[in-house]
Amino acid sequence: MVVIWEEDMRLNSMEKTMPLKFYFIHVLAAGHMIPLCDIATLFASRGHHVTIITTPSNALTLRKSLPSHPFLRLHTVQFPSQEVALDLPDGIEVTDADQLGKVFHATTTLQTPIQNFVEENPPDCIVADFLFLWVDDLAKNLKIPRLAFNGFSLFTICVLQSSHYPNSLLPHPITLNASPPKELPEFFDKMLETELRSYGLIVNNFAELDGEEYIRYYEKTTGHKAWHLGPVSLISRTPEEKAERGMKSVVSIHECVSWLDSKAENSVVYICFGSLCHFPDKQLYEIACGIEASGHGFIWVVPEKKGKEKERQEEKEKWMPEGFEERNAEKGMVIRGWAPQLVILNHRAVGAFLSHCGWNSIVEAVSGGVPMITWPVHGEQFYNEKLISEVRGIGVEVGAAEWRGTGFGEREMLVCRDSIERGVRRIMDGGDEAQEVRRRAQGYGEKAREAVREGGSSHNNLTALIHDLTRLRDAKLISS
Ligand SMILES: *[C@@H]1O[C@H](CO)[C@@H](O)[C@H](O)[C@H]1NC(C)=O
Repeated sequence: MVVIWEEDMRLNSMEKTMPLKFYFIHVLAAGHMIPLCDIATLFASRGHHVTIITTPSNALTLRKSLPSHPFLRLHTVQFPSQEVALDLPDGIEVTDADQLGKVFHATTTLQTPIQNFVEENPPDCIVADFLFLWVDDLAKNLKIPRLAFNGFSLFTICVLQSSHYPNSLLPHPITLNASPPKELPEFFDKMLETELRSYGLIVNNFAELDGEEYIRYYEKTTGHKAWHLGPVSLISRTPEEKAERGMKSVVSIHECVSWLDSKAENSVVYICFGSLCHFPDKQLYEIACGIEASGHGFIWVVPEKKGKEKERQEEKEKWMPEGFEERNAEKGMVIRGWAPQLVILNHRAVGAFLSHCGWNSIVEAVSGGVPMITWPVHGEQFYNEKLISEVRGIGVEVGAAEWRGTGFGEREMLVCRDSIERGVRRIMDGGDEAQEVRRRAQGYGEKAREAVREGGSSHNNLTALIHDLTRLRDAKLISS
C-alpha cells in the first residue's frame, strides 16, 4: 500500500514538473504537413517540448506560418540523395502526379537521417504521418509510444474498416457515389494496419462532427483509441501567419478582404480544389460556365500555371470562355495559385464552398460555419462527402462520380455545367433546404469553436492524451 502511495506522489509531482519531449515527422505535401505541424503547436502550447523534423525548404515555410512558440523548434535533415532534393520543387508545392511520386520517394530517402537523429536523442513520444511506415519499427525498438496520424476523419476510417468487422453495424448505412480505383483498398488496408499497431490515433477533427456514435464504433471494433484534437485551423494566429499557412498566397490578404468587404453577406461562392487536384481544361471550362450561369459572386482558385501573365489568348480560351474575366470583373475573382483560404472562409460574404472534400478544407469550412457543395476527386474524399451531405446535412452533392487515382490528368467523366449551376443554386439561391443546411453548418461552426476552448471536447481530449503519455513515461522512468 505504502509503496503504491509513494509512487503516486512521485508520479503526480513529475507530471507537473517534467515536460514531455515530442518529435513530429511530416510528409512533404501541404495537405499532410499543415495539420500535423499545427498539432505539434498544440502540444507546445501546453508546455511540452516539441521538435518538428523537416527539410530545409519546408523549414522556411514553417517559420513564417507557424505561430512562434518557445517550446516549438524545427530540426532540419538534408536529403541524402542530391538527385531527389534537386528535382523537387521549392517547398511543398506539387504540380503534377510525377512530382507527387518524387515526394513519396523523398519520404523514403529521408529514413536514414531521421532515424539517426531520433536514435541519438530519443523523445518520449513520436508522432509521424502514416506514410512513414518504418517509424513503427523505430518506435518499437526505442520502446516509445507512437501516435498515428493520417489526416482522415474518424468517420472515414470507420467506414474504411467496416468491411473487416461484418458483425458490427455502422451507425449509418453509407453508399458512396463511385467505386475506388483498384489499388486503393489495398493501400488503405496497409495504412490502417500500421495505424492499429500504434499507441493511438490523433485526428484533426472534433468529436461532435465525427459523432459519439463513430467514436464508440471505432473503439468497439478495433479496441484502439482515437483522440480528437481539432479543428487545428482554429489555433490562434496573426493575420500574416494565417495568410502564409501552407504557402505564400498569390494575393494579399488586404486585396482579398477589401474585395469581400464590398460584397453582401453570403453572396460569394468560394471554389477551390486543394493543392493536389488539377482539373483538365475542359473541366475548368464547365466550372466557369456553371458558375457564371448561376449568377452568384465567386472566388475561384485555379492552379498557378493556369494564369501566367504571358498566357496566350488561345491558351486561355481552352479553360475559360471568351471574355469571362471581363464580364465578371465585379462579381468574381480568379486567384491563380495559393489562396488565403482561412481568411476567405471566415469572411461573412462567403456563403458556400465548392470543394474537392479534402479533409483539411472540410474542417476549415465547418469551423467557419460555411455550407459545402461537395465534389470529391481522389483519395478518401468520396467518404468525406457522405459525412457532409447525408450524415450531417451541412452540404449538398454536385454529383461527381469518377474516383481518380490522383488529382491530376485527364478524366473520363466531366461534371457538366448544369450540375455545377444546380449545386451552387441549391445553397446560394436560398429557400427552405438552403436555410436548413446553412443553419446546421453554422451550428457545427459554433461547436467547433467550443471544442477547442478550455473545457471543450478537443481541449479535454488533449489533456487526457498528455496525461496518458506522462504516466507512460514516468512508469518507464521508475522501472528503469
Ligand atoms: C474525446 O472526447 C469525446 C467527447 O467528449 C469523448 O467521447 C471521447 O471519449 C474522448 N476521447 C478520448 C480518447 O478521451
